[in-house]
Amino acid sequence: MKTEHAPSIQRSDYTPLAWNVDGVDLHFALDPAATVVTSRLRCSRNTQIAPAPLRLLGEDLEVLGLTVDGVEAAPGLVTQGEGWLEIALEGRSAEVGIVTRINPQSNTSLSGLYVSRGGFFTQCEAEGFRRITWFPDRPDAMTRFTVTLEADAASCPVLLSNGNLIEQGPLAGGRHYARWEDPFPKPSYLFALVAAKLVALERRVTTASGREVLLQVWVEEGNLDRTEHAMDSLIHSMRWDEEVFGLELDLDRFMIVAVSDFNMGAMENKGLNIFNAKYVLAKPDTATDVDYEHIESVVAHEYFHNWTGNRVTCRDWFQLTLKEGLTVFRDQQFSADMLAVAAGDAGAASARAVKRIDDVRVLRAVQFAEDAGPMAHPIRPDSYQEINNFYTATVYEKGAEVIRMLHTLLGAEGFRNGMDLYFSYHDGQAVTCDDFVDCMAEANGHDLDQFMRWYSQAGTPHVKAAGAYDAASRSYTLMLSQHTPPTPGQTDKQPLLIPVAVGLIGPDGRDLPLRLEGENHAGVTTRVLELSEVEQSFRFLDVAVEPVPSVLRGFSAPVILDLAEDDARLAFRMAHDTDAFNRWDAAQRFAERVILVLTADAAAGRTLAVPADFVAAFRALLNDAALDPAFRAQAMTLPSEGYLIERMQPADPAPLRVALMHLMRALGTHLADDWLALCRTLEVTGPYRYHPTDAGRRALGNLALKYLAAAGVPEGLAWAQAQFARFGNMTEGVGALAALVQSASPAREAALGAFHARYRDDALVLDKWFALQAGAWRWDATAAPVLERVRALMVDPAFSLANPNKVYALLGSFFRANPAEFHAADGSGYAFWADQVIALDARNPQVAARMARSLENWQRFTPALQALIRVQLERVAGATGLSPDVTEIVEKALA
Ligand code: ARG
Ligand code: ZN
Repeated sequence: MKTEHAPSIQRSDYTPLAWNVDGVDLHFALDPAATVVTSRLRCSRNTQIAPAPLRLLGEDLEVLGLTVDGVEAAPGLVTQGEGWLEIALEGRSAEVGIVTRINPQSNTSLSGLYVSRGGFFTQCEAEGFRRITWFPDRPDAMTRFTVTLEADAASCPVLLSNGNLIEQGPLAGGRHYARWEDPFPKPSYLFALVAAKLVALERRVTTASGREVLLQVWVEEGNLDRTEHAMDSLIHSMRWDEEVFGLELDLDRFMIVAVSDFNMGAMENKGLNIFNAKYVLAKPDTATDVDYEHIESVVAHEYFHNWTGNRVTCRDWFQLTLKEGLTVFRDQQFSADMLAVAAGDAGAASARAVKRIDDVRVLRAVQFAEDAGPMAHPIRPDSYQEINNFYTATVYEKGAEVIRMLHTLLGAEGFRNGMDLYFSYHDGQAVTCDDFVDCMAEANGHDLDQFMRWYSQAGTPHVKAAGAYDAASRSYTLMLSQHTPPTPGQTDKQPLLIPVAVGLIGPDGRDLPLRLEGENHAGVTTRVLELSEVEQSFRFLDVAVEPVPSVLRGFSAPVILDLAEDDARLAFRMAHDTDAFNRWDAAQRFAERVILVLTADAAAGRTLAVPADFVAAFRALLNDAALDPAFRAQAMTLPSEGYLIERMQPADPAPLRVALMHLMRALGTHLADDWLALCRTLEVTGPYRYHPTDAGRRALGNLALKYLAAAGVPEGLAWAQAQFARFGNMTEGVGALAALVQSASPAREAALGAFHARYRDDALVLDKWFALQAGAWRWDATAAPVLERVRALMVDPAFSLANPNKVYALLGSFFRANPAEFHAADGSGYAFWADQVIALDARNPQVAARMARSLENWQRFTPALQALIRVQLERVAGATGLSPDVTEIVEKALA
């Protein structure tokens, strides 16, 4: 392999800063091709450690001047290496002046300062600031920023940066300026500027302590009618953080800016959050219920970072989960509360369960796969080559599960006490995950030493559960054991502290009261057991009849539960488990079992037959009008292909697809009358509102259309066509379109054409159109491979490799959401993948690396597919000028 080994950075190598930057004045003379950045750093020596030079980091910068205390720096003072520069400063303090020139317009990586649709935007996390000017660009360097922006007044009438606007005015030559001051010291990754032609929706609200603050959502002029939901979400987030955590906005103004070209979801820059436009813009006829939900949670996530991330930040990037795991947990709790309140008392529990199911679905499909592959890492990694590759499902989603387990173990009040202590100790600091867990332990007098292993151990633990009933002593013993398989570089695993929530269901479907041996109180029906050994037994007393155990209720820990249950027992829990999450999980387990058997039959050329007891259990769910529609939609949505591939050994996408199509057709055909009857009960009347009740009905209706269309049921297809012809909101429109696309109906192409004609100028809506086609299954066996369609769409004028949303919609959907087509037996998908990864890498390494990751688990597949993948992995690895981002992914995959 030609690739040079990228250097890897070790967590254990952390050293404190030799020089602090107490304040920085930045001046930007903004110009698309040549922006001049003047920086004055007021530095003071860290007297706690041995004297060392000031170390600055930089990338792609042209230096125009360098002064120390106003005098041009003598060459002997400066040492320079790859990406760094050291200045041997004397004494206890010094002022360093640096002038650099950068070219935002040619910055296609979208990291640092870049141009999007004529405006200037920044993205500095993790290491983008060093692409703007030389700086100690690491999160423990906290500095007070004053920023002056100067730009052309006509093309960039709006000039924004962090904090408060303190001055603005016109300049000669049609230019103008604005000066911003951020009162809070912050690391450079939280710096932001925007200079563009934008308009804002504004609201003034009063915080809990009675301060009036100004909220703004900035967008391009034509999008002002799509800002209301983001604003509402922001206001709800503010209220929630005040009520639940006693945390208030600390600034007089808080801004959200939407930008069309953005690598990730959004960014929590202090007081100036910058968002991928798709997580801001919504109106009923362009955004789906799911879009509304995502906007609400991303707005909340970024807002919550103001405390968990900004006021208290990370000492180094290994601690990323300190802010991300905690903030994801906070946004999940917020969304669950919002849904529960909207659903009202009767629907609250189900609404919360539906949210939990959504989150767990992502965790199982994406994070479990990551944990089982070459990129497996603990939520706090020990090393990395490129930090941008570690904004992962493990750091974020598993990190949130770890925080959730603390919440479960300590209770809501104990958790809140730990949070209060954390802020009282660490406000204004850059700290570690240990600091956080120490606060939780101290506030609760709880030893969390073993719990800390969740931070250092990679891999998904397997928890095995087996129960035994003893009628003579009326006792039930639950044996739990744990095992974590080895991961790269970590073969030896220690037992973890795992909270396992358990209930026992009686034959009548009702929960039995639980009394654990050695304890007196009885009455609760769900009990959190603490599994801390490799193997442990828990004995329940006074158990009148042999129960059915319901284990890992609410998904109380991020583990794989191995519990032997026959079909009858799964059907029983599918019908009766009082824990809605586990009821859903029973349906998923039953479906998984059926699908994997069908897959094996398809691979062996046997005839496929769907077991009647599964169809019956499924029909019972479908027709259970007492169940919340949103829950029913979750329970009848089959496990994702990504998840199923993780459950197959070896993974073979082609027969899996045959099995899934067969099952969907069978459920559509056998239950056609039930689905149609269901559709007639689900109509939502009145104008569109984003509300869990309405959203649940729409989701269930759209799912019904999917099954009917898959099965080619004429009334179902007619229903989908009628819904498509007169849809009043995007959820109905895209739901009907998806059903037609996932069918062999000739109406498919006409619908796609009509949708394109209607939304040809709407980039965000077109992303849905791209994604549906890239993710389509071949219901019509005579249709061309989907890769041909993807290639054709790449030359559509609306597509561009320069826009991450387009890449994720078209290429991302093909690579990740369409395994059977991507993993075509002739290897054409893999060759295409390599071409695209190489092409993308030249312009945007972060986006390229994300696409590259879609083949990292290649060793799960059949030997024939593996051989084809290896060739392409090696081709990418050998490409000239490969970024560290993609290098790390392919090197680890090939290791
Ligand atoms: N902190 C941001 C968030 O979670 C994500 C920024 C990630 N950026 C990156 N280039 N990796 O909301
Ligand atoms: Zn975040």
